[in-house]
Amino acid sequence: EVLVAPGPEQAAERAAAAVLDGLARAAGPAPVLGLATGSSPLGLYRALGRAVAQGRADFADTHGVALDEYVGLPPGHPEGYRQVLLREVCSVVGLAPERLAVPDGSVADLDALERAAADYEARIAALGGVDVQILGIGANGHLGFNEPGSALASRTRVKRLSARTRRDNARFFPGADDVPTHCLTQGLGTILDARRLVLVATGDGKADAVAAALEGPLTASVPASVLQWHPDTVVCLDEDAAAGL
Ligand code: GLP
Repeated sequence: EVLVAPGPEQAAERAAAAVLDGLARAAGPAPVLGLATGSSPLGLYRALGRAVAQGRADFADTHGVALDEYVGLPPGHPEGYRQVLLREVCSVVGLAPERLAVPDGSVADLDALERAAADYEARIAALGGVDVQILGIGANGHLGFNEPGSALASRTRVKRLSARTRRDNARFFPGADDVPTHCLTQGLGTILDARRLVLVATGDGKADAVAAALEGPLTASVPASVLQWHPDTVVCLDEDAAAGL
């Protein structure tokens, strides 16, 4: 389902409604919400916060599961995705910090990172899987940190960040060289296991990626094209992001 709203605020409201609708259908004892970082879902998180304030939603029992994390940042680094999600989601919607799962990218060597990736898959499975996965899209079509070329059935693993993504994310770090070179990310197969996907994209910088993902071929060159494969995907766009459709 592709929803085109006049502006970013309305796109965020529609995405919030799609998230709440998906969570209302969660079958397990506690709903599981997959969380994305980046600027795209910030309006959605604020809309969910308003729903809580108005008594239309409650995340006290909800588990949060992050899509990805940088490798090599020390625990507690303000741009590490655990800290970002604590600031931008937990404190906004009232999700308990102890119910937030983030892959551990602070471990030192490749073996430990591979164990952290496997542990993360096991943790998601133990929660009963993700009910609703919130997604943004990279300007190069990445989902999470699944860069172009990512295998369509991939699971959580270590990935090298593309030069484009490191440039795009340099704004969060003192300099371009401070952006980590690697990450842990849920795989495209992991993301596809979520029962509902809700993607938010706004602004003309995303128009090409959105058009390629939704109307181009299903291909590892455009990781977000896997959305076409999922039976319950809601894509919430503003008019600028929809301009290439
Ligand atoms: C980041 C994140 C993605 C996010 C994307 C877009 O690198 N790992 O999950 O969707 O880039 O970010 P933004 O929404 O700020 O454009």
